[in-house]
Amino acid sequence: MAAASISSDLLERLREALGPGGVLTTEDDLAPHALDWRRLFPGKPAAVLRPSSTREVAAAVALCRDAGVAIVPQGGHTGLAGGATPDGSGSQIVLALGRMNAIRAIDPVGLTLEAEAGCIVQNVQAAAEAANRLFPVSFAAEGSAMIGGMIATNAGGINVLRYGMTRNLVLGLEVVLADGTVVDGLRALRKDNAGYDWKQLFIGSEGTLGIVTAAVLRLAPRPLHTATAFLAVDDPEAALRVLRAAQDELGDTIQAFELISGTSLRLVARHAGLKSPIADAPWTILIEAGSSLSGLRDAVETMLGAVLERGDARDGVLAESQAQAGKLWALRERITESEALEGRSIKHDVSVPIPAIPTFLEAADRALAGGAPGAVANVFGHMGDGNIHYNVVVQPEQDGAAINRLVHEVVGRLGGSISAEHGIGQYRVDELVAHRRPEEIALAKRIKRAMDPNGLLNPGKVLRGGWLLRGNPAK
Ligand code: MLT
Ligand code: ZN
Repeated sequence: MAAASISSDLLERLREALGPGGVLTTEDDLAPHALDWRRLFPGKPAAVLRPSSTREVAAAVALCRDAGVAIVPQGGHTGLAGGATPDGSGSQIVLALGRMNAIRAIDPVGLTLEAEAGCIVQNVQAAAEAANRLFPVSFAAEGSAMIGGMIATNAGGINVLRYGMTRNLVLGLEVVLADGTVVDGLRALRKDNAGYDWKQLFIGSEGTLGIVTAAVLRLAPRPLHTATAFLAVDDPEAALRVLRAAQDELGDTIQAFELISGTSLRLVARHAGLKSPIADAPWTILIEAGSSLSGLRDAVETMLGAVLERGDARDGVLAESQAQAGKLWALRERITESEALEGRSIKHDVSVPIPAIPTFLEAADRALAGGAPGAVANVFGHMGDGNIHYNVVVQPEQDGAAINRLVHEVVGRLGGSISAEHGIGQYRVDELVAHRRPEEIALAKRIKRAMDPNGLLNPGKVLRGGWLLRGNPAK
């Protein structure tokens, strides 16, 4: 039994509320919930709760509140910032939402889908597709990530350019508050301007303000045609010119515009065994466009011809089939796992104004060469959103926090953000304070105090704890 640091009375009550399979306490059962995907934040859950309904979540939260025990909500546990992992004290309970996995309703005309927090993102995409509709949120971990985590982190991914972040795709939300109150805002309305839009407070709050139990998601019509192109360019400036051409020629049909460095493709070749169809390019771009009108492929071909003729791109491939498009996407999607197999990496999930991307990359490379000699930047990301993953593969002895500061200093100078889509979690807690105005941090603390006065919801994530119980948000 591992559940030493919470009382047997609380465990007994939780078992009564959640049923026999609802409370896990053995080392073997706790292990999969203890470590984040990057293996950076080893935690020690006191127990893992597996509620099967919103009512059970509410009961569990109320019992923990009464006992003064902290809760760490957990979905697919694929986040890259350690937001869903308990600390090492052995006193925090993980609330795993995976049993709440029903897709409750789908409306192909109203373009909405209602799902519980534990639904796997890919299953929601598949349900939408079965109704000939599109659920547009898509990212490499979609086969394990869950809707609750996607909402709690305001996940981005490859289609933000056209469809926006998760925030834009949530129409209604059901949450359990820190005292166990259930707030049902599961309205399937495309327009709803009645009072505060409180759901936005929970989206991206990483489980620190309440627990998402279900949501009404926005669907889109499925584009009947897609075109996927892979281009080699000499440098990020040239990539910017290609983006401009794509915007001019393809308009709002562009769904994804991803930048991939030669280093990223070498990692994917080495660890995933996948070869790029264009050898030795210093930079490549993966573009996807979608439309239900005919003529999309011709438009993409014309755009490719123009950028090749102008010398903005030096080579290009237009996928001939869905299978070929899938192979091009695999080169992009397997970067993160290949980077993890290469060794320790210091991630930066930054955004800057899109035209500043080349300046950012040059300045970050310079800062890295000066401050962390021998470190290798694995650069890729969602260029069309201004979101670059400037991940630095380092030797075990190199100081990760110092590298974070070097890169984030450049981001700050360019008016950027230190987290474009992964969130703050545990990984960026100190950096957040350094990169937001004091008034913004004080406001965040006021909100946290109002929503979770006892500091029991995912403590230490987004904001460090301590100040809450000392009672002074200015500290
Ligand atoms: C991705 O876009 O593949 C991930 O968000 C990036 C990462 O692994 O840093
Ligand atoms: Zn990303």
